[in-house]
Formats: sequence, structure tokens, C-alpha cells
Amino acid sequence: MHKKLIKFKNIPLSNGLLFNLNNKIKNYDLKVGYNSDTHLVSLYDNVSPEKLFHNDYVYDSSQSDTMVNHFKEAALSIQKKYKCLSPLEIGSNSGIFIEHFSKKNPIAVEPCSNFAKITTDKGIITYDEYWGDAISNKILNSHGERDMIYSANTISHIQNLDECFKSIYKCLSKDGVFIIECPSFLELLKGNAFDQFYHEHQSYFSCLSLNIILKKYNLSIFDIELYPVHGGTYRYYITKDNYYKLEENVVSAINEEIKYGLCNYDVLKSKMEVIKNNISKIKNTLINLKEKGAKIIGYGASAKFTQVTNMSEIDNTIIDFVMDTTPSKQNKYLPKSNIKVLPYNKELLKKADYCFLGAWNYKDEIMNKEIDFLKKGGKFITHIPTIKIYDINNR
Ligand code: TYD
Repeated sequence: MHKKLIKFKNIPLSNGLLFNLNNKIKNYDLKVGYNSDTHLVSLYDNVSPEKLFHNDYVYDSSQSDTMVNHFKEAALSIQKKYKCLSPLEIGSNSGIFIEHFSKKNPIAVEPCSNFAKITTDKGIITYDEYWGDAISNKILNSHGERDMIYSANTISHIQNLDECFKSIYKCLSKDGVFIIECPSFLELLKGNAFDQFYHEHQSYFSCLSLNIILKKYNLSIFDIELYPVHGGTYRYYITKDNYYKLEENVVSAINEEIKYGLCNYDVLKSKMEVIKNNISKIKNTLINLKEKGAKIIGYGASAKFTQVTNMSEIDNTIIDFVMDTTPSKQNKYLPKSNIKVLPYNKELLKKADYCFLGAWNYKDEIMNKEIDFLKKGGKFITHIPTIKIYDINNR
């Protein structure tokens, strides 16, 4: 049973970019709820996976140096800790993690066929399918059990967790390790990162809620690490039938979450009020700047950028355009706000007084890259944890 936490009305799909402004867009309510049995915060009445993950999927993990380095380091560190003789990645996107296992006959599963092709082209056997019962049987029959299953920012997208975890249990060897990476709900709340709420993100896991759910399938978290990517991401190490010993850091992480109030509906509800206030502040700040004649552009047409603009009702009359390095996003329009995505070009920055940082999670990477813009008096705006303007003196 879901108790309602917050509802955003008429929100388009965040990666549903438009080829032209005559394209029809479909808006859906985005309903976030809390389950008092598992303590999981998740979406309810969500749109179907086929509408979200398909052949025209635009998110490409290889567009940020931060993520390329993060996944390379993840691959190397995991191989140091575990044998990884039969690795499997679920949701390989452009293959920037699994490519580092190329000598170990890795397998990948990726439902967006445009990205499955990129992983295949890197020489990795890639199944262009949604993770679940059918593909897990196929992998077991053709390749045998897996001793390392990794999935970053994907399990939190899967709506049928029951089928997902049963299929993991079946494929994982006795001494195998299942590793999930996804943004920590505690860090999301601490950082007021409301723009992480979008239709693709079905579950907002905490260590506490994920562990409760996993235990139903004889899986459990035995180790945990926190990384700064995406505003605070947990890497969960999960064992089958308690093969690996529970580390103290898992207990501490769960205790911290309980202390913060992740089991307390009233605490969660009060955080939603903070989020609503922040959304109003973002809207007012951008409108005030525009009224004073400022030229504002966007940097990084992330799904989060689409969310923040639509949630705060900012459109192309306030933000002239957004630049992005991802070819499949370029020259399209963000749904509802109608902001055009232009290919990244340093010269375009010269047209701006303010640059609204859609990709706030790469703030340091981008501000270092665009130091000349700051030196010439340009300013960056970020909206997480609250709206803030950066210039050369306070970056
Ligand atoms: P990201 O925050 O990774 O993901 P999401 O879509 O899940 O919110 O998206 C960042 C976007 O910013 C992505 O489209 C690539 C783009 N980007 C640039 O254009 N330039 C850059 O220097 C960086 C780091 C990202």
C-alpha cells in the first residue's frame, strides 16, 4: 500500500525529446508514494517500461568524463575484490563498465537496442532484452551461472522487482556477488534533489528498504560504499544465502537512515514541503533575472534539466536554449518547455550572462572546463540543494 508523498501533475517523459515543436507530447502525473512495510519510496501508477526504454533512448553514459572514470574505476576495483570469471551487466548502456571485463567473456543485457548495438560493437555478447525470467533462463542455459552481476542505475528503473530478484537469484552462483549502484534516497533528501523524481526512476532505494525487499528472495546486502556521482550513490554488495559475512558499514548505513527518518512518513512528508518551496524559489529567481534583461542559457540537457524546468514551469521564454554534447539529443526540443538543445559549442557561451546547470551533478567538471566563461564575468546557476549563483569568486 502506497501512502502519497508528492504528486507532480502533467509531466512529460524526461527523455522524450521532440524532433520539432509540432510533435504531440503526452503528459503523465508523477506520483511518489511511501510503503510502510518495506519503507521503499517509489512511483505508483507509472507509465509502462516500453514507453520509457526503447530504440530512441537518448541517455548516453559516455558523455561525461566523470562517469567514464567512475565506471572504469568500479570495474577495476570489483575485479580486485572478486574473481569475476563470469561477469554479467544488466543495463549496459554504452558499455563503459563492462568493456573493462573484455578478457573474461562478459555478457550484457540492454533493452534499448541502439545502446545494445554499441555494447555489441565493443565485442561483448549483448542481449537486447528487458531483464527478467525469460532472459535469465536463456543466459543460464547458454552460458551457465554468473559469479558477478553488476547493475548501475537500472534496478531502480525496473517495475517488477519480484521477477527481477527471482531471476537474479537463479543466475547467481553460490559464491557470486550481485552489485547494485543507484542514488541513495538519503542523499537525495539531504540534497533536496527533487529532479531525480521522474518516470524512469521507479524506486528510490535506501539501504534499509532495498535490504528488506532483497531478503524476501534470500539475497542480502553485506557491504556498502558511497560515491559522489549523481549527488550520492551507493554501491551495494549483495550475497545469496548469506555466503558473505555482513560488514559493520551496512548496519551503520541503515542506522543513519532510520535516525534521519526514512521510516517516518511525517518526516518524509515535511521534506516534500521543502522541495515544493525550492521549486518556487527556482521559478522566481529565473523569472526575476530574465525581467532584469539577463540572457540565460542551459548547460546539459539531462533528464533532470527537463524535470526542473517543467516542475518550476520555466520554458523557452526564460532559457534561450540548452547545450549538450550528446548527438542524439541535439537539435531536438525538450518536451513542454520547448527549449531547443544545441550541440555544445564554447562560442555559444559568449551569448550568455547566466548558464543554468542542468547537469548540476557534474558541476566541478563543467566549471573547470568553462573557467574562461567565469573569468569573463559569466555566472553559473545550480538549483541543488537550493538555487545558487556562482561567479569566478565563489566557484
Ligand atoms: P546526466 O546527469 O548524466 O543524466 P540524467 O539524464 O540521468 O539526468 O546527464 C547529463 C547531461 O549533460 C548529458 O546529456 C550529457 C550532458 N553533458 C554535457 O553536455 N557536457 C558536459 O560536460 C557534461 C559533463 C555533460
